[in-house]
Amino acid sequence: MREALRKRAAALAAGAAALALALPLLAANHPGSRENFAIIERGRYLTVAADCAACHTDPHQSTAFAGGRPIETPFGVVLAANITPDRDTGIGGWTDRQFDTAVRQGKLPDGKRLYPAMPYPYYTKMSREDVLAIRAYLNTLPPVHNDVDSNQLPFPFNIRSAMWLWDALYFSPGSFKADPAQSDIWNRGAYLVEGPGHCGACHTPKTFLGGDKTRLQFQGYSIQGWFAPNITNDEAHGLGRWSNADVAEYMKKGHNRIAGASGPMGEEVADSSSQMTEADLNAIATYLKARSGQTLAASSVAVNDPMMVAGAAIYQDLCSACHRGDGHGVPYLIPDLATSSTAASREPTTLIRVVLRGAQTVATKDEPTGPAMPSFGWQLTDAQVAAVATYIRNSWGHAGPVLTEDEVRKARGNLAARND
Ligand code: HEC
Ligand code: HEC
Ligand code: HEC
Repeated sequence: MREALRKRAAALAAGAAALALALPLLAANHPGSRENFAIIERGRYLTVAADCAACHTDPHQSTAFAGGRPIETPFGVVLAANITPDRDTGIGGWTDRQFDTAVRQGKLPDGKRLYPAMPYPYYTKMSREDVLAIRAYLNTLPPVHNDVDSNQLPFPFNIRSAMWLWDALYFSPGSFKADPAQSDIWNRGAYLVEGPGHCGACHTPKTFLGGDKTRLQFQGYSIQGWFAPNITNDEAHGLGRWSNADVAEYMKKGHNRIAGASGPMGEEVADSSSQMTEADLNAIATYLKARSGQTLAASSVAVNDPMMVAGAAIYQDLCSACHRGDGHGVPYLIPDLATSSTAASREPTTLIRVVLRGAQTVATKDEPTGPAMPSFGWQLTDAQVAAVATYIRNSWGHAGPVLTEDEVRKARGNLAARND
């Protein structure tokens, strides 16, 4: 995965270099070129904020935006399309209106529907000007001939027209409306989070068909073998114990005094949020911290429960050297398990995964070391992992249900079936 990230970064850098070459030409050849330049630059920034490259660049190829990366959906795998300006296999022949309709309405020029693996249910909140600025930027990239057959789904999901039903159930088109009762910074944050940032794609719980449970917006969801935690201001499970500056710093550097970003969030930080402006990251923090969560009633396991006793002993032996006896870890290096929402969460996917497999946090320009957690899967049995996880869930102020041996066994099986 690191290798894949490095390749993608190189591909994006090549894209940026091509842009740097193209811009003076554009500027020289077009009347009103100063405005063109500003639009293209705005489009570049929004393409980063919307993380179009994450899906549209195949990490095994070095051609940015030429598509082919498999995207998991509840129906099966869909390959992201080629969105370079190639006329035959990309979007070179599309009108602006066709591009806007694809990005904000999920419809192709021939009227067929896109699968929601493309986050149009979120991008619909973007303004038309912003989407056309993205197009203007994409137009400056080198066209790449790459014929992608996106639809790899099994019957009956391979029938695109079936997606009208999905749209009818879960898609509410319409661009973002600012709330005049809120500050400008809150509104900017809301726009970025709900629109281009499509944070809900990973952080909002879904129905079995992959539609957002809007009532539970941003309250946490499992994707790609990770858990994307609650990012509302919920005290127990969300960002309640983070300051606005903690949120902005995590998005910028991939680390803060409490946590480090790994897995899909590591990618999101590397490709997108670490390249956003401080002002926008503060806006995102302001908006998230203003969202109240829905704190669920706590159920805790007694300290003298045999599982807690066993868990405490394992923690003392194997974990406390790094995470410390009080769970607080080491700021910027070792996550604070006492504040971690991964530890507090009722959804144990990341907790189990990290203990079994280990993990590496993202390295960014500002924080070039991405500290790693060793794997314990080879050393601990399912019952031992369950015990230490139950201990973490019920220490330092956390209160969570027992994690069972059975849950660990299932998670181990699921992880073994994945190659990331
Ligand atoms: C989470 C992954 C993901 C992200 C992020 C994403 N896309 Fe997509 N996109 C896809 C997938 C998958 C498809 C193919 C869907 C299908 O075939 O139904 C697609 C299809 C498209 C298409 C239709 C192209 C065609 O020829 O079928 C366009 C245009 C597009 N994306 C533009 C964008 C832009 C612009 C952005 C950023 C603002 C973006 N996408 C971000 C996954 C993504
Ligand atoms: C591709 C999926 C994905 C997207 C898109 C995504 N996230 Fe995440 N996010 C995750 C995962 C997975 C984690 C857990 C990472 C870990 O455990 O290291 C996470 C963690 C976080 C955390 C740390 C929470 C904690 O308590 O440790 C914050 C804050 C966050 N995301 C904010 C955002 C914001 C804001 C956006 C939109 C701009 C966003 N995320 C978009 C998957 C995603
Ligand atoms: C060598 C130091 C080290 C040891 C020993 C260690 N960890 Fe970690 N741990 C880390 C680092 C570094 C991370 C950040 C990695 C990441 O999230 O990608 C981490 C992350 C975690 C996380 C995820 C926290 C979050 O908020 O995302 C959990 C849970 C965790 N460790 C539990 C344990 C348990 C349980 C043990 C003992 C069985 C243990 N660790 C032993 C260094 C260590």
